[in-house]
Amino acid sequence: MELAKSKALYDRALNSIPAGVHSNSRYRNPHPIYYQKAEGAYLTDVDGNRYIDCIMGNGAIILGHDDQDFNDRVKFYSNSGIVTGVETELSIKAAEKFLSLVPTAEQIRYTNTGTEAIMHAMAMARAYTGKSDMAVIEGAYNGWHDAVYVSTWPDLQKAGDKSAPNSLPGASGLIEEVVKSTLVLPFNDLEVSERLLTENKHRIAALIIEPTMIDIGYIPAKKEYLQGLRKICDNLNILLVFDELLTGFRLSPGGAQGLYGVTPDLASFGKAISNGYMLAGLAGKASIFETVTPGKGTCSFVGTYNGHQNSLAASMAFMELYEEKQVFQTLQNRTEKLIAAFAGLAEKHQVKAKMQGRGGHFHWYFTDEELVDYRTATTSDKEKYAAFINAFAGKGVYCSPNYLLHHAISLAHTDGILDQLIAYMDESLKQTVTITAGS
Ligand SMILES: Cc1ncc(COP(=O)(O)O)c(C=O)c1O
Repeated sequence: MELAKSKALYDRALNSIPAGVHSNSRYRNPHPIYYQKAEGAYLTDVDGNRYIDCIMGNGAIILGHDDQDFNDRVKFYSNSGIVTGVETELSIKAAEKFLSLVPTAEQIRYTNTGTEAIMHAMAMARAYTGKSDMAVIEGAYNGWHDAVYVSTWPDLQKAGDKSAPNSLPGASGLIEEVVKSTLVLPFNDLEVSERLLTENKHRIAALIIEPTMIDIGYIPAKKEYLQGLRKICDNLNILLVFDELLTGFRLSPGGAQGLYGVTPDLASFGKAISNGYMLAGLAGKASIFETVTPGKGTCSFVGTYNGHQNSLAASMAFMELYEEKQVFQTLQNRTEKLIAAFAGLAEKHQVKAKMQGRGGHFHWYFTDEELVDYRTATTSDKEKYAAFINAFAGKGVYCSPNYLLHHAISLAHTDGILDQLIAYMDESLKQTVTITAGS
């Protein structure tokens, strides 16, 4: 694959942009690729290489790139000349539409990013419960605030015993005392969670949990686990906060809370909420939003760009098309098709591997272990994943070199494109067997 123009842009970018990228997750060895066009399910780079996009803006672009129906509606809803800084009827319409799709939530406030939504949830939980610290799930990513960027993809040599995981910084530069104050729980383990939460009930204000761990591929929660957490949190005066950045609109139209029938106190949404425009939101119980309601609470919730009109126009456009085009069911059918095909191919090539996913999110694991948490996810064979993904990417698919980073398709990934992906998976598994034979 010719990448000379990307390399030249990278060399130029190094003078003005650290590592040539604005988000470290976009960095690639030996250099990032620079893109010039996106259309439907395809991305084209500056060298003219065309890729089937299986990352789709980290899961944000659910209708497909540059969708004309979406673009037309965004224009329709952003005709006021107002950009930001004031409230409009559109701000209310978007909130009403969101709440009709996610009826378990009573109210929503919009932010720009998921990180901000989670930061607000933490402040509100502190104000509401009178306690200070957070509990998170081992392996999860809930944004880059010091209190939650804890034990995100931790080194298992340092992570301690599963019955009492250590609180490890997700990166350097975080405040050590804040990181240490965060309690880390294993996913899907109700017994350990109950014990640790009970032991720390005097200080834990909220448990922040991605109700299916998509940031480590796709590891679903067991229903009784989420139901159990709901009860434990109620008993211990701890707020249950779902991080639905990735599960929202993908696991079901009502998010993970709709699928599991477990209502959190607060939940962050983003990504698909506006088909790639910059918008996130914090939704949940009206009684908890009183903490930020002037005259009732004293907690802050401010932001120049909160409820940005272009993003709300995009969210309205997305939510209408999501219903009209039955996006969830179509994506779910297509995801099931990919997963079933991969299971057959793994058997054909005698590879211990599986694909897991739902609603357009998915990931491949090279293991035959039951995947229930971060630790079991790390049993996926890195060497086999690398052999597979290099072969797959070599056929012109934009996918993740990281063995735990999730993938996504959109409504623009037609059955024809899926058939092509299935044929590529077949060839890539065959190559994987050859490359890793004897290892
Ligand atoms: C589950 C989850 N929570 C929170 C975040 C942070 O969101 P943002 O990147 O919008 O700050 C992400 C981003 O990838 C995410 O996947």
